[in-house]
Amino acid sequence: MDILLGLQWGDEGKGKIVDFLAPKYDVVARFQGGPNAGHTLFFDGLKHVLHQIPSGIFRPTIQNVVGNGVVLDALILKKEIEALEKLGVDVKKTLFFSKKAQLILPTHRILDAAQEKAKGNNKIGSTLKGISPTYQDKIGRSGLRLGDALYANFKERYDATKAKHLEILRSLNTDEESILPADFSEIENTFFDAIEFLKGFKMIESEYFIDDAIKAKKKVLAEGAQGTLLDIDFGSYPFVTSSNTVSAGACTGLGVAPSKVKEVFGIFKAYCTRVGSGPFPTELHDETGEALRKFGGEFGATTGRPRRCGWLDLPALNYAVMINGVTQLFMMKTDVLTPFDEIKVCTHYKLEDGTITDRLPHDIVTQKIEPVYKTFKGWEDIADGITSFEELPKNLQTYIKFVEENVGASITLVSFGPERNATLMKSELQVV
Ligand code: GDP
Ligand code: IMO
Ligand code: MG
Repeated sequence: MDILLGLQWGDEGKGKIVDFLAPKYDVVARFQGGPNAGHTLFFDGLKHVLHQIPSGIFRPTIQNVVGNGVVLDALILKKEIEALEKLGVDVKKTLFFSKKAQLILPTHRILDAAQEKAKGNNKIGSTLKGISPTYQDKIGRSGLRLGDALYANFKERYDATKAKHLEILRSLNTDEESILPADFSEIENTFFDAIEFLKGFKMIESEYFIDDAIKAKKKVLAEGAQGTLLDIDFGSYPFVTSSNTVSAGACTGLGVAPSKVKEVFGIFKAYCTRVGSGPFPTELHDETGEALRKFGGEFGATTGRPRRCGWLDLPALNYAVMINGVTQLFMMKTDVLTPFDEIKVCTHYKLEDGTITDRLPHDIVTQKIEPVYKTFKGWEDIADGITSFEELPKNLQTYIKFVEENVGASITLVSFGPERNATLMKSELQVV
């Protein structure tokens, strides 16, 4: 099994590259996150954003697995599936759900909003899709799983969980009346309709499914959501998501042993973005940051929020390469930097006590960090139809070499546009 995951704060272009690489694989499997993700695919002049469905879904011969590590919103999922079916995708045939995937209940979404509100100025900037409360229930051993919907006592268990959620909501909200929206019973009805709808899809034990696939010499690609710096353990806690976004998360989120993992593809933008709150050492609050947002179209694929933008951060990238055991680097959105005469890269951090370091401090949230930059010359447009790295603009080649030397892994794929064909691979990728 190979893994593809984000090395920054999400939105690195995972959807584009999973879709691009999918023909080399038999199975594409999502291992964590949920509808907080927005993975954009662009082909045949069509833009498509996937939230919970793996990005191999447009390739008709590929099996797409939603693993046990994922949290699922049945309502959003039904809409996603219906949109795909309208486009002629045979979702019933190629989509498989782990029975162990946790369900996001309507009250989880309400709890998410209430818990964010209670945080006041310290809010995380959550996508408000119910991610954190659902993972809280999972860890608290009281969550409901997709497979539970197959049993007669599902409604009973739902009611008990809802009652527990209402108690928490009461403790957060003095205004009893506004705890649930006026149309909540309608929302519940659509939730149960969506659950019934999902019962028409293939429910599996992903651990057996993937093990059987590997034994049958099928090729499996695990698709991450979010990015390493949003990981619950290794991200800028508490400004993180609630799952393990790192490569280890692919093992627990699908039920695959670490010894089965071959390549770890780490994907990153040639600059940085972040959406939501939390530290971002290289963030640009000036017109350069605005230009990055404009040229990069940096607005959230799930929430539409403007993304915060800044230069590439090598200490953070190095950390992500280490934590994930990245074997190959994929550099994205190199075209976005062409309008700039000068491009900066942060090589070190200057800490409050004057120390210069290339390591991420544990108190990155509270400490004021000053980036130390190295400046590079910008590069011209990348010509269509090039077939080798040698044909890339010379200044981009210099930039690539510098990153490789400082991060200790090779950049084997360069992306220079949202479409499938704006992708250059160093050598034909060997999938074993
Ligand atoms: P994901 O969450 O990692 O799948 O990334 P998103 O889809 O949220 O955000 C990436 C955005 O960049 C999408 O709008 C993609 O269409 C776009 N994109 C991907 N690769 C490139 C690239 O090389 N150049 C440009 N200009 N856009 C890209
Ligand atoms: P993809 O898969 C970028 C961010 C939110 C917020 C924090 C917690 O498209 O890369 P949550 O809703 O998980 O409780 O939010 O994480 N976040 C993302 N940022 N890309 C994503 O996914 C994200 N999913 C969550 O903005 O700061
Ligand atoms: Mg995204």
